[in-house]
Amino acid sequence: MKKKSPLDWQSLGASTRALHSGIHRSEQRENSLALFLTSSYIFESAEQARAVFADEEEGNIYSRFTNPTVAAFEEKIADLEGGEKAVATASGMAAIATVFLSLLSSGDHLVISRSVFGSTTNMANTLLARMGVSVTRVPLSDLEAWKKAIRKETRLFFAETPANPTLELVDIQALAQLAAEHGILLVLDNVFCTPCLQLPLALGAHMTVHSATKYLDGHGRVLGGAVVGQRELLMKHIFPFLRNAGPTLSPFNAWVLCKGLETLPLRMEKHCDNAEKVAQGLASHPKLQGRVRYPGLPNYSQRAIADKQMRRYGGIVCLELENRQQAHRFIDSLRLATITANLGDTRTLVTHPATTTHGKLPPQDRIDAGITEGLVRLSIGLENFEDILADLLEAVELALNLE
Ligand SMILES: Cc1ncc(COP(=O)(O)O)c(C=O)c1O
Repeated sequence: MKKKSPLDWQSLGASTRALHSGIHRSEQRENSLALFLTSSYIFESAEQARAVFADEEEGNIYSRFTNPTVAAFEEKIADLEGGEKAVATASGMAAIATVFLSLLSSGDHLVISRSVFGSTTNMANTLLARMGVSVTRVPLSDLEAWKKAIRKETRLFFAETPANPTLELVDIQALAQLAAEHGILLVLDNVFCTPCLQLPLALGAHMTVHSATKYLDGHGRVLGGAVVGQRELLMKHIFPFLRNAGPTLSPFNAWVLCKGLETLPLRMEKHCDNAEKVAQGLASHPKLQGRVRYPGLPNYSQRAIADKQMRRYGGIVCLELENRQQAHRFIDSLRLATITANLGDTRTLVTHPATTTHGKLPPQDRIDAGITEGLVRLSIGLENFEDILADLLEAVELALNLE
């Protein structure tokens, strides 16, 4: 048969690429992605082993370094995010720890947003402090504060936008410009948006990190993470850390994540459809005036930034209730949404960040991050939106009518 000409990959849409990228078939001609459950690889001879170890010949050595199923996940997420390369990790925190530990040395300075995931703040406060890295925490959206924090030792800016759980945003392009002007690396946690909704690398970020545990898997099954960016930067700094320290993604989890990524664009559209309708439905309730946070609401304080850099507004909606008692009563009144610390699942999930995901933060850090005792985070799932909204409104009635 005549050889077919290759597809023009860049002209293909995100859904097509999510399905077709990263697939390198074995000699078995399998249709679905193969799962390579092997810890090491064999060599034809001692000489070949030497040559592969010496980087004179390409090839897999050991699955702490590379694995074909993990490589398929890396290729897919790099392609979707517009990065040249991705390095997969065992979890989102493993990705963040890899970034910190491979980019920062004793004497360096990190500027980090106040509103980042609880464990990220804890890592900056404890591990990095112990390593002799100084840390300045700044309000996420306050570009003047980022600028003022810069010192000659500043090596890294780290932020999450939208932030978990407050949904606060930063103008990525402006922050990237500030970083570039001072020779600082900018790393952004893109968990809430995924590459389907926001492409920080195209806006000037040097790397993105992901908790693949969230939307990339999308079904609440496995932990995983990734660092995505320029090949040279990743191969120089990130990959050597993974190879030597070993926070590697398992091939089985990579296989599950590849299956998740195949439907990511489809799922993100539905998460956004549902979240937009739920946010509007809640915002029009008389008892919730000014209490619903969602970047897509017309009166959201940072709506202009959302429109500038997000394709749609995501699947997370927050409620700002009176206090912990009211928040807990609301959560306990839900019948459909489940109480759990995860997000980005097919099903609607509810979390009280102040006492769970961000519960171990020093109280002042929590206040600085804008996480009040009344804040409730809703990860809107793929159910019929009428059913989600009915469940939430019923809980509002039960929780807010007692006052
Ligand atoms: C924004 C964000 N970054 C990182 C993480 C950490 O990811 P993982 O739980 O996969 O380690 C989370 C987890 O909730 C998160 O929400």
